[in-house]
Amino acid sequence: MREQLEAIREAARQELAKVDSRAGLEAARVRFLGKKGELTAVLKQMGKLSAEERPVIGQLANEVRAYIEQIVETRAKELKAEETAKRLESERIDVTMPGKCRPLGHKHPLTIVLDEVKEIFLGMGFDVATGPEVEWDYYNFEALNMPPDHPARDTQDTFYITEKMLLRTQTSPVQIRVMEQQKPPIRVIAPGRVYRSDAVDATHSPLFHQIEGLVVDRDITMGDLKGTLEAFAKRLYGEQTRIRLRPHHFPFTEPSCEIDVSCFRCGGKGCPMCKGEGWIEILGGGMVHPKVLQNGGIDPEQYSGFAFGVGLERLTMFRFNIDDMRLLYENDMRFLSQF
Ligand code: DAH
Repeated sequence: MREQLEAIREAARQELAKVDSRAGLEAARVRFLGKKGELTAVLKQMGKLSAEERPVIGQLANEVRAYIEQIVETRAKELKAEETAKRLESERIDVTMPGKCRPLGHKHPLTIVLDEVKEIFLGMGFDVATGPEVEWDYYNFEALNMPPDHPARDTQDTFYITEKMLLRTQTSPVQIRVMEQQKPPIRVIAPGRVYRSDAVDATHSPLFHQIEGLVVDRDITMGDLKGTLEAFAKRLYGEQTRIRLRPHHFPFTEPSCEIDVSCFRCGGKGCPMCKGEGWIEILGGGMVHPKVLQNGGIDPEQYSGFAFGVGLERLTMFRFNIDDMRLLYENDMRFLSQF
């Protein structure tokens, strides 16, 4: 029995050294130490031993058991450490590797300028109003003092949807919609898309953007229009900017004017940007026509107002020195990423 025990000890030593997985280790443990294992099988024969031999063999058996338990434990620790090391190796992350750089988007130049314009007018106490792009002829023309046979309609090549419905050709119809819903004092700007049946070239597009302005209150004068737009021009193009008003005609304002700003490139001396004029036309405006106030439900005997309209594309092209309007719509990243 002594030899058997020594053989088990030696077999276990060799076997356990070879084991290379936790499952294998468990199998080996069962084989040597389990209830039906080799050691137990030997101990079952203890009864056959003499009284003197029994304690000696019993002690040896305990030693062998302790020895095997000891290696099983050591191997378990080693295997666990190996597994952990393997896992860590496979999950290794190089924290010094440079990150993936996600390209950051750019605001479209039209958005940049529109945001600035909004900021300027919001600072002067204006609200932002909106209206539909699919509009009634009534709001786009008639209520703005352009009856069906009015010659000024010809200057705006209109996309009609039905006889009475169209794509708005200007943001001016928002004036009527605001007056219908709000009592004076009114101070709004209305930015938005407008449509005209124009062929595309460097300065035309069938879709473009305008920003409308409307102020209605008691005792509003042309001086208020001039002061407001001068403050606007200085904020947008710099403190040295001057404006001038030239008489003009619009059906919905009386009197009407066009507003020029001193050329921001040459300061008024004359250069290619202002075509040698020293001035650049950027706005149309005037005192809201009494009929238009009336159409908006406002009594022209008590209230007066001024209005203006400005093309966002023009503002943007001058602002960034862009010479072809098509660049604003083509979404060419080489162009857009410059802003
Ligand atoms: N709606 C005009 C246009 O598209 C621009 C305009 C001129 C708007 C004078 C106004 C204004 O409000 O008072 O040409």
